Amino acid sequence: MEAYLDNSATTCCYEQVKDVVVKTMMQDYGNPSAMHLKGVESEQYIKKATAQIAKTLKAEEKEIYFTSGGTESDNWALIGTALANQRAGKHIITTQIEHPAVSAPASYLEEQGFEVTRLGVDDKGRISLEELEDAIREDTILVSAMYVNNEVGIVLPIAEMGEIIKKKNPKTYFHVDAIQAYGKYRILPKKMNIDMLSVSGHKIHGPKGTGFLYINEKVKIIPYIHGGGQQKGMRSGTDNVPGVAGLGMASEMIYSKLEENVTHMRELKDYFVSELNKMDQVYIHGTTGAESAPHIISAAFKGVRSEVLLHTLEERQIYVSAGSACSTHKRSGSPTLTAMGVPKELMESTVRFSFCEMTTKEELDYTLQVIGEVLPMLRRYARH
Ligand SMILES: Cc1ncc(COP(=O)(O)O)c(C=O)c1O
Repeated sequence: MEAYLDNSATTCCYEQVKDVVVKTMMQDYGNPSAMHLKGVESEQYIKKATAQIAKTLKAEEKEIYFTSGGTESDNWALIGTALANQRAGKHIITTQIEHPAVSAPASYLEEQGFEVTRLGVDDKGRISLEELEDAIREDTILVSAMYVNNEVGIVLPIAEMGEIIKKKNPKTYFHVDAIQAYGKYRILPKKMNIDMLSVSGHKIHGPKGTGFLYINEKVKIIPYIHGGGQQKGMRSGTDNVPGVAGLGMASEMIYSKLEENVTHMRELKDYFVSELNKMDQVYIHGTTGAESAPHIISAAFKGVRSEVLLHTLEERQIYVSAGSACSTHKRSGSPTLTAMGVPKELMESTVRFSFCEMTTKEELDYTLQVIGEVLPMLRRYARH
């Protein structure tokens, strides 16, 4: 049996997504910028996807811009607004638990002369709204925060944050990295005071290398990729029609059964957590209630290194991640667990399990059984 519990790293495509991707690669493959019929046909896919996505957010179609994924959306939101608004101020607020797709452009902007305040978190991963309010100044041009943390699944109070930001400084933009939240929560940017929202296709059963940035029409932002003037000159490059069509399809499909999917994942999570809690010296990071996303569980297996457990599980066709998928490229410890003050020993024995709507109880039972078998053995070896 196989258990794929690494859905926060990536998901498999919906069958219907695959079909539309193949169709736009093999049959309706025209360049949407072309003036002939094949181009016009192809453009219809972009229009359809835009409408499908705008509907999920109750946004205007003209506020959706396609990108190459979550990383590009985040980089564009931060760098594009910082450069466009630097005369108004050079102060940016973010958190200590952001994904590198936000924390790295924030550091880059710091090197370029911007000032960055990084809000800390408590031992559960929660930010303080008072601290946010205190940090907002006259020259704060942007607050960038994630909706759901990719490492431990904590949910940030986005609606409350939006309210506080706009009350303290109506000119401050609010960017939300919703890459782990879109398809799990109903997100209404206009109601929640969100000016920009980043989404990635491959986390919602869409194709890899696809994503979008919602940009409220009032936001002053400059393009990040310059060229032939596609997407109203805001994001040049020949439109990725297969990717965009697949992303639109995935967005529509995931939102068509959102409540059902979330209930399923929440039940699985409650079950998995209660079983893990029965195991000796296994610690769940953050919280597991409503403040946490339905699909992410981060647990430390004291006395066993993450990669040892990961590879032992892999031998039995169980796929998990060591803290966060990005850790394979970076030697440094996890930013979120560090900010939460998790001791090094537990940090180094942390594994992330992440679910999707297709995850089954059988996969969890198999995983729990294998962990139960291998854990005492791995701990015995670790002591020698
Ligand atoms: C919270 C968060 N932001 C950004 C990204 C980057 O998205 P992408 O893989 O589409 O570039 C990820 C990917 O894991 C993520 O979890």
